[in-house]
Amino acid sequence: METNEIKAQVKKDFENVKNNVELAQVSAKYNGKNGVITGLFSAMRELTDKEQKSKAGKDLNELKTLAEQLYNEKELQLINEQRAKDLSGIDVTLPAYIIAEGHLHPITKTIEEIKAVFMRMGFSVEEGPEIEKDYYNFGALNFPKEHPARDMHDTFHMEDNYLLRTHTSPIQVRVMEKNKPPLKILAPGRVYRRDAMDASHSTVFHQVEGFLVDEGVKFSDLKGTLEVFTREMFGKDLKVRFRPSFFPFTEPSAEVDVQCVNCKGKGCATCKQTGWLEILGCGMIHPNVLKGVNYDSEKYTGFAFGMGVERVAMLKYGIDDMRLFFENDVRFLKQF
Ligand code: DAH
Repeated sequence: METNEIKAQVKKDFENVKNNVELAQVSAKYNGKNGVITGLFSAMRELTDKEQKSKAGKDLNELKTLAEQLYNEKELQLINEQRAKDLSGIDVTLPAYIIAEGHLHPITKTIEEIKAVFMRMGFSVEEGPEIEKDYYNFGALNFPKEHPARDMHDTFHMEDNYLLRTHTSPIQVRVMEKNKPPLKILAPGRVYRRDAMDASHSTVFHQVEGFLVDEGVKFSDLKGTLEVFTREMFGKDLKVRFRPSFFPFTEPSAEVDVQCVNCKGKGCATCKQTGWLEILGCGMIHPNVLKGVNYDSEKYTGFAFGMGVERVAMLKYGIDDMRLFFENDVRFLKQF
C-alpha cells in the first residue's frame, strides 16, 4: 500500500474515534506490537536497495509522526468533551461555597503560647496522670494530714486513696522521683475542683506548672524567669509585682500580679479598681519536698510556679466569663 493511502486511512480512523476505548484500539492498530506501522518498519529493514530503504524510512517516520500527532489531538479533544459534559447543568458563575476552616481552641492556643515562651528559656515539657494518688497531690507536697491547707482544694476523692488531681504540682514530685537535678520542667494539664461553676470558677480547668532544680538556685532566678514570661505573654509595658503568700510546698511563697491589661494600672472593673491582676503562685521549693524525693536539700535548691490557663487567657483576650471556654459556642470560638 502506498503511504499516502495509509495516511488517509489513519486520518479517517482517528477522526471516527468517539471514546477512549476506540482511541486505544486505533492506536494499537497502527503503533501496537502487531500494528501496521510497526510491520512496515520491519519490512523496510529487509530492503537491500539503499536508496529505496532511505526513502521508505523517511516516509515511515512521517507516517509515525502523523499518527502520534493525531493521537494527541484526539486525546485532548476527548478530555475537553468530558469536561464540558461534567460541567453541563452547573452554573460556574455562582459564588464559591466557602468551607469553614477549623482551628485550635483558645485554651489549647494559650497553653501552646505559654509552652513556647518557656521552651525558648530551655524548659522541657512533662505530663502526669489526671487520676492521681493522694500522696502525690498532697502528702509529697508537704500538705500535712488533716491540715486546713487541703480544704483550699475542694477535692473529688475516689477509692483507695485516689483522687482527681486538684493541681499540676504533683508532676513536680513524679518528675523528681525519676530524674536527678538539674531539672527545668514545664508541666501543663487539666485539673479538677469540687467548685460550683461561675464566671471565675469551673470544676475542670487547666494549669501550667513550672519548676527548676539545681545547685545555687535563688529567689532572684524565679523573679527573672517570671518577668521574662509576663513580658512575652502580656507585653513589656506592664509592671509585675511579687506579693508574699503561702503554699505548703514552697518557702518562701509568693503570688505574682501584673498590671491590669485592661486599664494598664489605673484601676477599672476588671481589676476591681486595684490596677493589678493576680496571675500565678510561686516560691522556692520547700526542703521537705526535696527530701521526700531523696534530693540533698543542702546541695540543691529550686523554684516552682503554677498558673491557671483560663485566667491567663481571660486576661490576654479580655474575656470576663470562664464559662465561655467550655460552652463551645462557635460564635465565641470563631473569634480566636
Ligand atoms: N498548685 C497551686 C494551686 O493550684 C499553684 C502553685 C503555687 C504552684 C505555687 C506552684 C507554686 O508550683 O510554687 O493553687
